[in-house]
Amino acid sequence: MKKAKELGFATRAIHSGQEPDPLTGSVTVPIYPTSTYVQQGIGENKGYEYSRVSNPTRTRLEQNLAALEGGIAARAFASGMAAINAIVSMLKAGDHVVCGNDLYGGTPRLFNQVMSNFGLEFSYVDTSEAGNVESAIQKNTRMVYVETPTNPLMGISDLAAIAAICHRKKLSLVVDNTFMSPYFQQPLALGADLVVHSTTKFLNGHSDGLGGVVVCKHQEDADKLAFLQKAAGAILSPFEGWLILRGVKTLAARMEIHDRSGRLVADFLSKHKKVKAVLYPGLKDHPQHALAKRQMSGFGAMITFETGSLKNANKMLKKVRVCSLGESLGGVETLISHPATMTHSALGVKGRKAIGITDGLVRISVGIEDVDDILEDLDQALNAI
Ligand SMILES: Cc1ncc(COP(=O)(O)O)c(C=O)c1O
Repeated sequence: MKKAKELGFATRAIHSGQEPDPLTGSVTVPIYPTSTYVQQGIGENKGYEYSRVSNPTRTRLEQNLAALEGGIAARAFASGMAAINAIVSMLKAGDHVVCGNDLYGGTPRLFNQVMSNFGLEFSYVDTSEAGNVESAIQKNTRMVYVETPTNPLMGISDLAAIAAICHRKKLSLVVDNTFMSPYFQQPLALGADLVVHSTTKFLNGHSDGLGGVVVCKHQEDADKLAFLQKAAGAILSPFEGWLILRGVKTLAARMEIHDRSGRLVADFLSKHKKVKAVLYPGLKDHPQHALAKRQMSGFGAMITFETGSLKNANKMLKKVRVCSLGESLGGVETLISHPATMTHSALGVKGRKAIGITDGLVRISVGIEDVDDILEDLDQALNAI
């Protein structure tokens, strides 16, 4: 077999860290539901001592996700938020982070309502203009935290340009790659230092478990995060880890369908008389369409559109039948949500207004059902407005 680095993406997804079990030949990674491990003598063990520190199922998942993102190591946590919490826990009181201003709502909630109580400072800028990142850097800045595409406004940030600024200023660049998955976007190859995912979304892909992962480019970060797994304990359970290992085997196949249907749904919405605007990087009128084409190998399944008002949004969301109204994204089922009252409610009216999240915005995560059924469902729901 070729070295892991030379293998194609789908092959790595199925085989990296997912080698047959050496004991039995089982083609699937066993779930190790154990808290502790019998030791052979003082300081003598088989590499595992206690499951908060490490667990063989989690180890295999971490190997797999590191291989998919092209990192040297990965660290798995109980949720995407636990992973993000671990990243900022590597900092010290008085440190400053420059962040995108249109992140998943839970991220600024953690930064502003929890981490700021411990002396960390955060600034928020529109990272789709790399110059804004440079202007926001202070003497105490240690990290730049970016999501691209942004959530829910689908803005694209130039990762190579931001990475160049970060490296000149000796700052870590962290990229939340949840929306694209490593199948369509490889931030480490573009210069990022850390990649974070809510594995709850496309990596798991089946809406049946929460999880988070940080993939590292540098051993020093991997060591710090392993220490945080042990010290703070917000680790992923073996069963949830196994669900992700199972889900990730079909990531390449699922992403192809998500992307193909995403393009068709975006095109349909952009022509629909009840839709006022569509935000999707694959549309030619998206302000960063050219950058998206260069930086990503697909446009994905996430689309945001404007219905005009809260009343209109509610009318259509009550009518959907194939699409399911709910938070989250990245599952096989089409999920549709209302950012102002769901994912981004914590920003408050002022916070949402500042970045342009209106009450009429609806976000859709296009699933892998028959696309004609999704289109028909959206059409009848929109016509209720
Ligand atoms: C882009 C993004 N990052 C992080 C998170 C947080 O992940 P989790 O819900 O697994 O804690 C989410 C959740 O929706 C998300 O959409």
